[in-house]
Amino acid sequence: MKNKILEFLYKKQDYVSGEDISRRMGISRQALWKYMHELRDLGYDITAVPHLGYRLVSSPDRLFPFEISVGLKTRILAKKIFYYETLPSTMDVAMELGLKGVPEGTIVLTESQTKGKGRLGREWHSPKYKGIYVSLVLRPDILPRETSVLTLVAAVGVCEAIKEVTGVSPQIKWPNDILINNRKLGGILTELNAEMDKVFFAVIGIGINVNNDNRSLCDGAVSLKEHIGERQNRTRILRQVLFSIEENYLSFKRQGSLLIMDKWRLFSSTLGRRVRVVCRKAGVKETDRAGRLFLEGEAVDIDIDGGLLIRLDTGILEKVTSGDVEYCR
Ligand code: BTN
Repeated sequence: MKNKILEFLYKKQDYVSGEDISRRMGISRQALWKYMHELRDLGYDITAVPHLGYRLVSSPDRLFPFEISVGLKTRILAKKIFYYETLPSTMDVAMELGLKGVPEGTIVLTESQTKGKGRLGREWHSPKYKGIYVSLVLRPDILPRETSVLTLVAAVGVCEAIKEVTGVSPQIKWPNDILINNRKLGGILTELNAEMDKVFFAVIGIGINVNNDNRSLCDGAVSLKEHIGERQNRTRILRQVLFSIEENYLSFKRQGSLLIMDKWRLFSSTLGRRVRVVCRKAGVKETDRAGRLFLEGEAVDIDIDGGLLIRLDTGILEKVTSGDVEYCR
């Protein structure tokens, strides 16, 4: 009900009489009064003036589920939202919920993480009320080797959403770093519950630096606020991210990965560049000064499984499926 009342107040942007709201919502004046109290307790500034009614003055910067649901145009994503002030990591909760059989599209959302996980065992810095930290439970009917496409789906969805809401077009560094001017804005982490030939469910974790100040950002990272120069509305961005990911996910389910790959190529900052991929791959023998194995060459394309194709100086085409890309120039 709170989301319906908010939606109504958002649309009106002016005073609305209590009688009018109660009638529209189909609730008593007393029930409305109780909901208004609850909303104020959550930080909504709602004025009440005799003979005029209620007016929403401002909303708190929180990702409350009922706020996310206002005007959310998805069909499967975020129909069920698990929301927390703080968590070690949304990934673990989403994996547990996946095992318990929650429906596809369930999301786990938090305002901060104490043990946010990044790729390759790294930490994802997740300060309170600054970013978007969300994990999605998906149940696609695909093989485990096809799941890297889900990461591409999420990366494309995040880029499209950010572009739609802010006008800024981020880039994707293979496999799933979201960048602005070569600094990290966000990332995607995919975890699976699967057997050799069956995926039971996948959890797609998305982290985006939205309102972080320079001092709350790690080296080499950027936030939308720092890039654009003003605070951004996290709720709006999250709603659009969910919508765009769902559009791409449904398109992938309907017609496979070709369209997603084309969109990914358009956002890619990796293709066409000389890259060094630090990776563990059979046959790779070269090591850098730190003793890490790597392949070096031109990143020419991604393949149907989301692997990166590199043309080595010998002319041989190599495919890497995981690793870290460094740009050589
Ligand atoms: C990366 O680029 O290394 C991936 C970062 C993924 C971070 C998100 S934040 C929400 C979800 N929960 C986590 O612990 N990690 C992912």
